[in-house]
Amino acid sequence: MNEGEDEGLDTKNNSSYHYVALTTDIKNGSSMSFSIKTEREKVTQIAVFNVDGKYYAISNLCAHKGGPLSKGLLQGDVVTCPWHGWKYSVKTGRSPHEGGDSVNSYPVKIINGKIYVNSIPSHIGKSIFQPHQDYLNLKESVDQYLIHKSNDSILPVDDKKIRILGISTTNANDKIAPRQSTSEDALTFALEYAKKKLNAETVMIKLRELEFSHCEGYYSKNANACIFPCSISERDSEDQMIQIYEKVILWADIVVIATPIRWGSASSLYYKMIQRMNCVQNQMITNDRYLIRDKVAAFIITGGQDNIQHVAGELMSYWSQLGFIFGKFPFVGWTRGWYAEDMENNYDKMISSLSANTHNTKEYRNHDMYSDLAKTIKGAFKIALLVKQNRYDQNVFA
Ligand code: FES
Repeated sequence: MNEGEDEGLDTKNNSSYHYVALTTDIKNGSSMSFSIKTEREKVTQIAVFNVDGKYYAISNLCAHKGGPLSKGLLQGDVVTCPWHGWKYSVKTGRSPHEGGDSVNSYPVKIINGKIYVNSIPSHIGKSIFQPHQDYLNLKESVDQYLIHKSNDSILPVDDKKIRILGISTTNANDKIAPRQSTSEDALTFALEYAKKKLNAETVMIKLRELEFSHCEGYYSKNANACIFPCSISERDSEDQMIQIYEKVILWADIVVIATPIRWGSASSLYYKMIQRMNCVQNQMITNDRYLIRDKVAAFIITGGQDNIQHVAGELMSYWSQLGFIFGKFPFVGWTRGWYAEDMENNYDKMISSLSANTHNTKEYRNHDMYSDLAKTIKGAFKIALLVKQNRYDQNVFA
């Protein structure tokens, strides 16, 4: 029996109690949310739970990122936040595990089948949780970067160097059977070209060497549940998507994605990565925050058979949504067509096309992989310089 049950509510001495619902409105094992007014007319959101016929009230807003606790899973007297799984006792508002944050809990009275909640909490929630250091560093660096991008009118000298990040998304398993990859070797070539001919700084990330989890689809719960940096990175101190976030958002001026074609689409690892980047794009929607500033993307797409245009369309659509722009010839592709079933020769054929510029045949040189890759990289490089020097994004946002 809750405190005050079967007693009349003395409104004089109970002015901080607010009627919220009939007991019959909230079934056993369920909950409802309400807004009540506290001192100075401040509105607070509470969740009222029915646990075996007893009623308890805590804040409806999770201490993590404000997820609605009334919509969480109630097991016994513990509710699990529907957004990222933090848990609270609905009796006390406290976390069932040590070191967890707590939320406010509020006294409840039942009077003649009516539920009243006191707007003065019996327990005040506390924030104790600290994400791991790599997560905090990324968060802080991105905040600083955005301040710099929005406010500095003059570029630091070292900002005049163009930095190119290559991301190889092939899933070739080097541990089982080391072999050559057309997409990765074309990317290696492109980065070497940029370094030698354009004096760019380059870094390659091989996605298959990083350990990271699949996107868990928090966006599908609520746009605000998809936070940046990603809640998976916050939870998992081993999550190496942090390297991708750092390099793509903070370091690179150009990102070159290299992918093989798998059943007409990009590699599965590519999709695993970009789904984890939903939180980058989502910042525009939820917080009007543009994490990608003055950056260019380009693509290398290779396969034994067709579908370069389809893959290019998908890649360009996604990276443009993130805020990247493209130079001349933003993608370069290599396939040998529908009838090419001699995959054992595919790599060698591409390599001979890559080195075809050493042949002195003019006609061949204009259409080989070498000259196409060079055009794509030069196209990205030239536009990246223009974009940086002219503060392109800042002018668009102004
Ligand atoms: S766990 Fe509740 S908002 Fe993240």
